[in-house]
Parts: sequence; structure tokens; C-alpha cells
Amino acid sequence: MAGGGEANVANRVFTFEEADRSPEESLTVSIPEVLEPQYGMYVWPCAVVLAQYLWTQREQLRGRAVLELGAGVALPGVVAARCGSKVILSDLAEAPSCLENCRRSCRANGVQDVVVLGLTWGDLSPDLVLLPKLDIILGSDVFYDPEDFEDVFFSVAFLLRKNPKAQFWTTYQERSADWSVDELLRRWNLSCANIPLDSFGADKPDLARSALPGRHHIRMTVVTLGRAEEGTS
Ligand SMILES: C[S@@+](CC[C@H](N)C(=O)[O-])C[C@H]1O[C@@H](n2cnc3c(N)ncnc32)[C@H](O)[C@@H]1O
Repeated sequence: MAGGGEANVANRVFTFEEADRSPEESLTVSIPEVLEPQYGMYVWPCAVVLAQYLWTQREQLRGRAVLELGAGVALPGVVAARCGSKVILSDLAEAPSCLENCRRSCRANGVQDVVVLGLTWGDLSPDLVLLPKLDIILGSDVFYDPEDFEDVFFSVAFLLRKNPKAQFWTTYQERSADWSVDELLRRWNLSCANIPLDSFGADKPDLARSALPGRHHIRMTVVTLGRAEEGTS
């Protein structure tokens, strides 16, 4: 189905619901995907897992200040906005097409008060420094290129130092057993806790009535400031 009158845009629909499929307890969002082979143009498998987590946390999302990093077409940020969060969506400052994707997703779901900003990981820009107080930072599939990992942690650690009670909720795809972020977590004085997928109904190949995440191995992690006293994962 074409979306927004643009020939190369197609809407992908996600319906989040309770296990008993109670119709009163469901949320449907529509995400316009751009039919181009670029990273920020369509919904990645990690996004639907993070969005499912947000859906299960919807009670605590109401009224919270949420920033999404590397949002792309912004399924998690849109779900947070639909759950009542005050949302800022961000993507590469040098990629206006990605920022337009964020705006298009907001329009498709009637969420009006969402701010869209260019925030490039690792860049201490005025827009990063001047962000308002945050409660939750989201990052779906932002750990896909090891060359960027340090830059992502730089931005996340900066924001967590400014907002010491905030948390970074992130999903990543296990693409290589050789990639480890343990050293980076230590360096930036961060700790992380793994959230088992079966604890929020995401241990399925098909979430939100979509064909995602498919057979991809996704992990959900909560990153906080400071060292964990025991067992980071
Ligand atoms: C794999 S895509 C994930 C998109 C979306 N979060 C999802 O899961 O569907 C990675 C996203 O990070 C953005 N990105 C890449 N490098 C970036 C950088 N240095 N700073 C900020 N965003 C970046 C891309 O534009 C893209 O939207």
C-alpha cells in the first residue's frame, strides 16, 4: 500500500496486544518504509523487539521523556509516543532523509508533539548538549558496525551523566560472536542487564502480527550509569 502519496513508500502495520489478544488492550501503528537499500529506511528486526518491550512497559512510559537514537523509521519512538511519552526522535544529523523518515512515521500515526533532531553519535553538538531532562533513551539496532560502538557509548554516557536516573533501553542483533562491548562498558563506567525475551513475550519469530524479527537473534538490554555490583551480562 502506498503511503503519503509517495511512490517508493509502503506502510508496514504492527499490532501490539496482550497474550489473550484482548481487543481493548492493543495498539496498532503504521510505519512508512522507504523502498531503498539504506539502513535508516525500514523497520529492522531489533525495532519490533524493542517496541514490544515498550508496549509491555506502557504503564511506566506515560509522561516520561524519551529520546530515540538512530531512530530510522522510528517504530519504538512512535510506540512510546502512542503510549503517552514525550518523545524526541533523532538520527544522523548529516542525513536529512532519515530525519524525514522520522517525521513521516509521526504523521502516519497522528503523533504531533514529537521533536525530530539530528544527533550524530559521538558528536558533542549543541543539540545534544541542550537536550531537556530525559528518563529513557532508546536505541534499536544501533550496534551494527563496531566502528560506531565507541561513538554510541560516548553519546549514551554523556546523556546518562546528565540524567543519572535515566536508562538506555537497547536491542541489538547478534551478528558476530567476536563483537563485545564489555571493555567499552567498563571504560564509560556503564553497566548492563540482559532482559530475557521470554519475559516480555518477544521469544517468537513473529511479533506484533508482523513477520519480524524472523529468525534473527536479538537481545534486549538495559544500560545504566555506574558499575553493576554483580553479574553484568
Ligand atoms: C540499522 S539502522 C536501525 C534503524 C532503526 N533504529 C530500526 O531499528 O529500525 C541504524 C540507524 O542508525 C542511524 N545511524 C547510523 N550512523 C549514525 C550515526 N553516526 N549517528 C546517528 N545515527 C546513525 C542510521 O541512519 C539508521 O537510521
